[in-house]
Amino acid sequence: MNDEAVRLSSRLAKIKPSATLAVTAALAEMRRQGKDVVDFGTGEPDFDTPEHIKAAAVRALGAGKTKYTPVTGTLELRQAVVAKLARDNGLSYEPDEIIASCGGKHSLLNAFLALFQEGDEVIVPAPYWVSYVDMLALADAKAVVVPTTEQDGFRMSAAALAAAIGPRTRAVILNSPANPTGSAYDADELRALGDVCLRYDLLVISDDVYERLTYDGFVQRHLLTVCPRLRPRTLVISSCSKTYAMTGWRLGYTAGPREVIAAMATIQGQSTSNPSSITQAAAVEALTGPQTCVDEMLVEFSRRRAYVLERLRAIRDVTVTAPRGAFYVLPSIGVFLGRRVGGRKIASATDLARYLLAEFGVAVVAGEDFAAPRNVRISYATSMELLEKGLDRLQHGLETVAAAA
Ligand SMILES: Cc1ncc(COP(=O)(O)O)c(C=O)c1O
Repeated sequence: MNDEAVRLSSRLAKIKPSATLAVTAALAEMRRQGKDVVDFGTGEPDFDTPEHIKAAAVRALGAGKTKYTPVTGTLELRQAVVAKLARDNGLSYEPDEIIASCGGKHSLLNAFLALFQEGDEVIVPAPYWVSYVDMLALADAKAVVVPTTEQDGFRMSAAALAAAIGPRTRAVILNSPANPTGSAYDADELRALGDVCLRYDLLVISDDVYERLTYDGFVQRHLLTVCPRLRPRTLVISSCSKTYAMTGWRLGYTAGPREVIAAMATIQGQSTSNPSSITQAAAVEALTGPQTCVDEMLVEFSRRRAYVLERLRAIRDVTVTAPRGAFYVLPSIGVFLGRRVGGRKIASATDLARYLLAEFGVAVVAGEDFAAPRNVRISYATSMELLEKGLDRLQHGLETVAAAA
């Protein structure tokens, strides 16, 4: 395209397409060519949305709930979010402290646009979810990355947070349980991090999208229940996507100080307006209806997680920390880098992921874009049958690389 009229904005130079979506695209192309590929790349539950939630959407359609709603969402939905925050997190909010948006991604972007500007810095513990850095860039802010290690369970210490704070630091993003590591903070760790935020006047963005997906008896305490003094400076962000297998419905929500919620409403009101009215009705049912569907999904995720860990631990030279939550594992594949196999140099996690996809038909996400260049991410939000098949392929692929020079 070389028409002078089509000149893209300089904003585009600040961001890149999502790494996870790039894997999905490569995989779709292979499938189009008729190849059999196992996908460990996608970050969404393979379960269908529970029937009672779908039924609520059908009822809403039948009742003609097909019009604009208030920009921040229907009162009924905001009351459902209030009820959810009280039930699951022990937090107390009013409906005018809530805004519903088109997915957790949209909630985060609106929050960043409302809060940050050129020169602002935001602390992001790494490995991080790919979109934080790009969304901050869209809001003209800069991510200050704080690395964590496998040995500390990929958790940022209060000391590391304090050391990263400079004169321009405005906020920290806490995502517990986290994508891509599955790491999650204890109450004591949250308290210590919270104290630093209070001492240095930081805002907190608490990304809770995986909060219900925890394992081995670990229960995620909310930052605001262990550190209530942070409430006036914290945005609690979550979504129906992961908990209720509703990724396609697009419903995220934010609870926070009234003035920030009002600012986000202004931005949303001049862009997307309300999230889909039908989705909102479904979300009311998801948040306040029977929660047994979540427990059922958890039982299955738990079984898969145990299987994946066992299989990965059986592969020589792969190390992996047991994640406390979400549905990802982030094994270290550093040992395999720098080798040459079948005429290809495996110099990076990306090279390894490409090799595994092309030669063994298994898609994993390379860690570079998560700031984890010696790891790959495996999502176990897929059936046991596919996990077995994909892990056989992964093992075969890694053993082939290990046997090479
Ligand atoms: C850490 C994290 N936050 C937020 C989101 C946003 O999810 P959604 O926009 O589907 O609600 C995701 C999705 O992958 C995520 O992994």
